[in-house]
Amino acid sequence: MAEILDRSQRREILESRRPQRPIRYEPELGGVYTEDEIEAAVKAMRDSMDWREGGFGFIGAEEIQSFERAFADYVGTEFAVSINGAGSGLDMAMMCLDLEPGDEVICPAVNFIASAYSIVSQGGKLVACDIDPKTLNLDPEDVERLITPRTRAIFPVHFVGLSAPMDDLQDIAERYPHPKHGPLKVIGDAARACGATYRGTAVGKKGWMTVFSLHTRKHMSTLGEGGMITTDDPELNARLCDIRQFGSTTDSWGTNYKMTKVQAAVGNVQLRRLDETNAMRVQRARERTALLQGVDELTLPYEPPDCGHVFYVYPMLVPRHWAGEKRNRLMELLQQEYLVESWMASAELYKTRGFYRRLVGGQALPNSDEISERIVCTLIHALLPAEENEYIAAAIADAVERVAAEA
Ligand SMILES: Cc1ncc(COP(=O)(O)O)c(C=O)c1O
Repeated sequence: MAEILDRSQRREILESRRPQRPIRYEPELGGVYTEDEIEAAVKAMRDSMDWREGGFGFIGAEEIQSFERAFADYVGTEFAVSINGAGSGLDMAMMCLDLEPGDEVICPAVNFIASAYSIVSQGGKLVACDIDPKTLNLDPEDVERLITPRTRAIFPVHFVGLSAPMDDLQDIAERYPHPKHGPLKVIGDAARACGATYRGTAVGKKGWMTVFSLHTRKHMSTLGEGGMITTDDPELNARLCDIRQFGSTTDSWGTNYKMTKVQAAVGNVQLRRLDETNAMRVQRARERTALLQGVDELTLPYEPPDCGHVFYVYPMLVPRHWAGEKRNRLMELLQQEYLVESWMASAELYKTRGFYRRLVGGQALPNSDEISERIVCTLIHALLPAEENEYIAAAIADAVERVAAEA
């Protein structure tokens, strides 16, 4: 197990292990594939060569059916619907709400932009919610404060691999039913949390539905793009299946959000390996935490005892008085002097992207405002070597010491 680095060890690591090229915060082509995925993909292609039987895209394909069954079993839900990406899945989730003009959806401000787009594209009103500064997930107390008779749904993101507080949100959803539609719907965005757990259940089990991304940067991938939606609700499942396939079974609207069978064949193998690859991520995250123990300026990632964090990235906070300028200086130093790229995990988007800023403007978000200026995330990957992880930790510790020494 990694141990806290003293100054001379740090120097030695920084000098001897300097990388040849920058260490990305999020690898562009991060799929962890083995010969098994390659064989599965080739087999699915070969099976498609019989022109009377073949075809890559049909949802009746055995590979797609078995991937959906396996994913539902993994999460513990009745249904799983494969799709072509989480962005589509979030849009589908909002379509299934049948929003009327002025209907409100509560969503954390500290989030990727896709949720905001999905709400607005269906004519809903985004009500931005504050976050808990410890978990960086949406804060149930603020959710409760924001509920009005127009609220239709609570739309948490499971922030960089840590589950949102689903029981608290479900409780609120039931205590404040919508006058016409009944209990509010809780819809999870688990794009960055595939394989995470919450109180003994897999993320994706709780809530009305949960959307996963299987994009190349995520915990498991279906050849670059892909997604999955889980639910226990049979009517919702039927509607989702319709939306992804031109409204094929009922009279409802639909288009093409399908995954291919080659992707599903690969997804089946990736899913079998998910716990193993996530365990590799968690190991590196915990080693980094051990290595950074002595760096008092940093608040290291919080792992609640009832949640299994799957570390999409490694999130840290700088001290309050470093918010903004000194945090930015730390990120700049890491990149320029140590070739370690870092990232705010989209926490700043609601302030920097004009479209998002206009939707959120004027709402009181004190914790989000602070955290978006204090957060720094660095790479975690299942294949990150221990030596490179030590280099990243040494670089962080060294850069923090330099920033602290600057006037
Ligand atoms: C939190 C979150 N939601 C949704 C998405 C969209 O996922 P996809 O790329 O599968 O469409 C992403 C992608 O990075 C994400 O991080």
